[in-house]
Amino acid sequence: MDGMVEIGRICALVRDELAKAAAPGITTLELDRMAEQLFKNEGARSAPKTSYQFPGQTCISVNEIACHGVPSSRPLQDGDFVNIDVSAEKNGFYADTGMTVIAGSASEKAKDMLKVSKEALKAGIQAARPGRSTAHVGKAIFKVARQGGYTVLKNLTGHGVGLSLHEEPQYIFNYNEKRYSSLIQEGMVLAIETFISDGDEWVEENPPGVWPVQTKNRSQVVQFEHTLVAAKDGPRILTHSDFFNTGSSA
Ligand code: CO
Ligand code: CO
Repeated sequence: MDGMVEIGRICALVRDELAKAAAPGITTLELDRMAEQLFKNEGARSAPKTSYQFPGQTCISVNEIACHGVPSSRPLQDGDFVNIDVSAEKNGFYADTGMTVIAGSASEKAKDMLKVSKEALKAGIQAARPGRSTAHVGKAIFKVARQGGYTVLKNLTGHGVGLSLHEEPQYIFNYNEKRYSSLIQEGMVLAIETFISDGDEWVEENPPGVWPVQTKNRSQVVQFEHTLVAAKDGPRILTHSDFFNTGSSA
C-alpha cells in the first residue's frame, strides 16, 4: 500500500504540473520534458515508455486525438482540448491518471464537457466496491454522460493496475458491458477512466506502430482518470489532488 500511495502521489504531481503549464504557445514536447525531469527528481520511470516503448514520457492528446497522443513540436493554441495522461512506476508499483484541460480560454461547451466527464468519473469510482462488478462502474459512468447529453467511447476502457500498467481486470468499460464484466475484489487496484465525446462512440483501430488514437468522426473527447483501491469502506483514490478537483476548467 505504501508503494502504491507513493507512485499515486508522483503521477498526480506530474499530471498537475503539466496540466497547469498547458497554455497557448507551449509545445507538448516541452510539457513532456517537464515530466521527464519530474520523474527523475522522484525516482520514477514513465510506464508507457518502459512497458510499451511509447515515444514519450507521457501521452498528451490534443483535440480529436482521444488518447496515446505523442508529444510533438506543435504549439498549443487557444481553446485546444489537452489531455495529459501520466502513468509511471517506482519500486515495482504502477499508477495511472489523466485529466483534460483547455489551453487558454474555454468555451461554455468545453467547460460543460469537462464537468460532465469529471462527474462521470466520480460516479464510476463510487460504484467500484468489493462484491460489485466492473459493469456497475460502466453503468454509472454511462448514466452521467447520457444525462449530460454526451456519448461514451465504447472501445476505450479503464483497467487493473498496480504491479504492471495493465493487468486484471483487463477492461473497465464506460457502459454496462456484461460480457467482459469482472467481480471487484477487496484490495483490487483499478484505473478508472472516462471517455466522454460530443458525438462519437468509437475510435479507429490503428495499424501497428501508429500511436495517436482518433475518433471516427473526429469529434472531441474528454478523459479523466484516477487510480484507486477498492476498499471495503469505500474507494481510496491514490491520484487525487485539489487541482484535479477544482482547477481543470480554465
Ligand atoms: Co492513463
Ligand atoms: Co489507464
